[in-house]
Amino acid sequence: KENIFSGVQPSGIPTIGNYIGAMKSFVDLQDQYNATYCVVNQHAITVPQDPEKLRKMTRQLAALYIALGVDPKKSTIFVQSDVPAHAQLAWIIQCLTGLGELERMTQFKDKSAKNETVNAGLLTYPTLMVGDIVLYKAKYVPVGEDQKQHMELTRNFVDRFNSRFGGILVKPDIITPKEGGRIMSLQDPTSKMSKSDSNPKGFISLMDEPKTVVKKIKSAMTDSLGQVNYDKENQAAISNLLVIYSNLSGQSIDQLVAQYDGKGYGQFKTDLADLVASFLEPIQSKVNQLMSSSDLTDILSEGAKKASQTANETLAEIEAAVGLRY
Ligand code: TYM
Repeated sequence: KENIFSGVQPSGIPTIGNYIGAMKSFVDLQDQYNATYCVVNQHAITVPQDPEKLRKMTRQLAALYIALGVDPKKSTIFVQSDVPAHAQLAWIIQCLTGLGELERMTQFKDKSAKNETVNAGLLTYPTLMVGDIVLYKAKYVPVGEDQKQHMELTRNFVDRFNSRFGGILVKPDIITPKEGGRIMSLQDPTSKMSKSDSNPKGFISLMDEPKTVVKKIKSAMTDSLGQVNYDKENQAAISNLLVIYSNLSGQSIDQLVAQYDGKGYGQFKTDLADLVASFLEPIQSKVNQLMSSSDLTDILSEGAKKASQTANETLAEIEAAVGLRY
């Protein structure tokens, strides 16, 4: 089986965008591949985090992986800071990466524009991500479209490293969903749905209560055309809701458009709100149950043990190749 790797930052509660863009694939791909899924808490501290909240979010995100269907018997689930090889390798990668390459990253540009103070970690962030992926020799990385640029950086790094130090590293390919690689804000169909959006009406978090879900979907932006159509140019907001509906129901967009022909937005939104709320309900009760049990701690320490083994082997190979073992 080929290896896949992915991670989510515990910098907020994941949204249905994170689910549709990435976490849904975690579940779908785990039978076919040897999967490793990480809670990337070291990435999260590139912007200020409250320590108590970060601890909670870290556990909650791991619980969400499991509640969404990642099976710890099939996949390795672990927390990044439990495996020191990530930070160790990031240093080596930083020393092999040009400053200009990092300054070009749009995520860095966006986040540094939003934050008053910019720390060095925000800039070197992608080198930590490159390390995450190469440590597990991942052939595929399931992520949303906003990670394309980081994936290109990873692929370029692997090429450069392999030609300079010998072909040790695996060059990864991105896996993004056909429809849903970029779920947009419910309040602004030109910007990405984000778990750290200052306006909570823009996103649906995976832990939102049913009545919150209903409120947010009812107040989601639409347009004045009054007809459920898939047209990203002229009806971006409705098209976004259709993508969400399609991903959670398994119905195709064409089917949905036909189903709501002549029905207007009211019924469509009511049905979508029901769908989202009833999708989230069993997941939330599983998360709450896991959060208060010792099982989660056991799964994560088992995961860290397994991940460390692979990660340490790769790190040793890389250190030997660059001359750090003597
Ligand atoms: P993060 O935590 O921002 O997002 C987690 C995953 O969700 C995807 N995503 C979306 N997909 C569709 N629509 C959206 N609106 C949306 N918003 C986010 C992201 O693309 C991502 O797949 N750098 C990564 C975390 C990371 C990682 C890695 C991923 C660190 N190391 C190694 C893969 C492999 C990030 O910030 O994801």
